[in-house]
Formats: sequence, C-alpha cells, structure tokens
Amino acid sequence: MARPRVLIDTDPGVDDAVAILLALASPEIDVVAVTAVAGNVPLAKTALNARRIVALAGRGDVPVAAGRAQPLSEPVVEDSVVHGRDGLGDLDWDEPAVALDPRDGVELIAEMIGAGPLTIVAIGPLTNLAVLLQRHPGIDRDVEHLVIMGGASFQGNVTPAAEFNIWADPEAARVVFDGAWRITLLPLDLTHQAYLDDQDLDYFHSLGTEVGRRVAAMLEPYAQFHDRWYGTRDVIMHDAMAVYEVLDDAAIQKRGVRVAVETDGVHSRGATFIDRRRENADSPVRVGVTVDNDRFRARLRERLASFVD
Ligand code: BDR
Ligand code: CA
Repeated sequence: MARPRVLIDTDPGVDDAVAILLALASPEIDVVAVTAVAGNVPLAKTALNARRIVALAGRGDVPVAAGRAQPLSEPVVEDSVVHGRDGLGDLDWDEPAVALDPRDGVELIAEMIGAGPLTIVAIGPLTNLAVLLQRHPGIDRDVEHLVIMGGASFQGNVTPAAEFNIWADPEAARVVFDGAWRITLLPLDLTHQAYLDDQDLDYFHSLGTEVGRRVAAMLEPYAQFHDRWYGTRDVIMHDAMAVYEVLDDAAIQKRGVRVAVETDGVHSRGATFIDRRRENADSPVRVGVTVDNDRFRARLRERLASFVD
C-alpha cells in the first residue's frame, strides 16, 4: 500500500519544528509539502523557519511555500514571547539550502489535494485552510483526513478560554469546523499529556548530530519559558501530537465530538466548545483524549536519532 501523503500547514514555532522533523524522519508517511502561515511570528519568519527545518532535515525535495500573512479579521500577528523573537529560539542559522517555493501556499494545498488522497496536518492558525475553503468550495470533501492541533476544553493558554491557534484566527477556525472534513482535533487537554524533560534534551544533544544539537538548543529557551509560565521545565509537545496521530492511528485514544468556535465574547473569543456527549459518538470529528507519553517520547527519540550529518 502507498504511504499516506501528508501536507504540513505550520507556523514554526519550536514545537512545530519538532513536529516537522518527526514527520520527515518517519517512513510511514510521505511528506509532500510544507505550507507556512502567520502565527507564532509573522509570515516572513514562519516561512523562513519552515525552510530552515526542511533544510536541516536534508529534504530539499519537499516544497515549502508561504500562505496567508494575516488572519481573516483582526491583524494581530506579532512576534511571540513563547518561541523567541525569530520563532525558533534565536539560534544562529545559515541561509537555508531550501528556497521558498514561488507558489501561493493556499494554492499549493489545493494542488496537493488534486494530486491524490491527502492528509493535512494543521499545526498553526487555520487561516490557510479557511481561505482554501472559501476559494475552492467543496474541496474539504476531497481531503482524506485533517488533523488539527488547537483548542481546549478545560483551560486556554492565551486567555482562560482560548488556545493560541484558535485564538489567533477564530473566524478561520469557525470556517474550518463548519466544513465537511474528517477531522481529528488535538486540543490542550490532550497535548499537555505529551512533554519532554531535561533528560530528553540531554539525549538529543548527546546524539552529536546537527539535528540533535539544534533540537536541544531550540528546546532550551522553550523549557525556560515553560518554567516561567507553568513552574516546570517540561516542554509540551503540542504540534508533534498531530504528526504522531498520523503515524499511528492507535497511539491517541479518541472519541466523536462536535466543535463550535466562539468568535465574539468579551472573555471567550477563540474558545472551542467540544461537545463530548454520546450522541456525537459517530461524528466525523473526533477529539484526542489520552496519549501514552513514554511511548511517544521513545518514538520521537528513535526518529530524531535517525538523522545523520
Ligand atoms: C500551539 O500554539 C503554538 O505556540 C504552538 O506552536 C502550538 O501550535 C499551542 O497552543
Ligand atoms: Ca504551531
């Protein structure tokens, strides 16, 4: 059987970088493109960071294109405090050996859908996918599977109600969740179960490869942010969960839900209402509920160790 074709729509982002490397190191899937969207940092930086990571993986065969620079409504994209001023922990990088693909990122997604069954891994704000749907009505039905990192039931991380990827463009999220895709949603309630600790950072550094050294170096300021924010250096691997789901459908336990996105509200803009009631058991939208972190960590270690200089 052919390997699933996967497109990653992303706003790197330190945890995006780990997710992309995990995908590029995994023989179960065929990464056909990476598209950048504004999010953790503005589009010029997320597109550059996507090129840096694809180049770091030695995968010049994977096109990297830039999508939308601003959310559907409010222009709010600024530099993140979470991922460093450049979005990847402020390391020194040479000019990446991977050029920016001249195609518009949204049209590249459409092209990849037209070329055959496609899984989309969406690990940034959902702007590119909303614009895709607006420009190509019905294209959601042609997508095999859409895996989204975003949302929260219990507690947001930008506001008490809202998780970053949804908060950054709630109108886009609403357009996407109103579509007809088969969706797997991995919200904070799930991703906070998946984290790395200092032993993992030491392990990556000890690999002695460029990938190992850079991953450890990118994760260090991210760990310091987690320490300031959450009181522990454990680094949450939000975005890698979306790739992990694609690698192994049994790794994350899921249930059928309906999802509504709040676009108004003084305190609740960007909130996701994830309706887990049993009447939604057969919904085409599923939410990730539990994951075994030890298994995930072992898989991530093994895959990142497979990169050689
Ligand atoms: C999400 O927000 C970003 O900062 C991360 O890259 C992840 O996609 C987590 O809320
Ligand atoms: Ca992200």
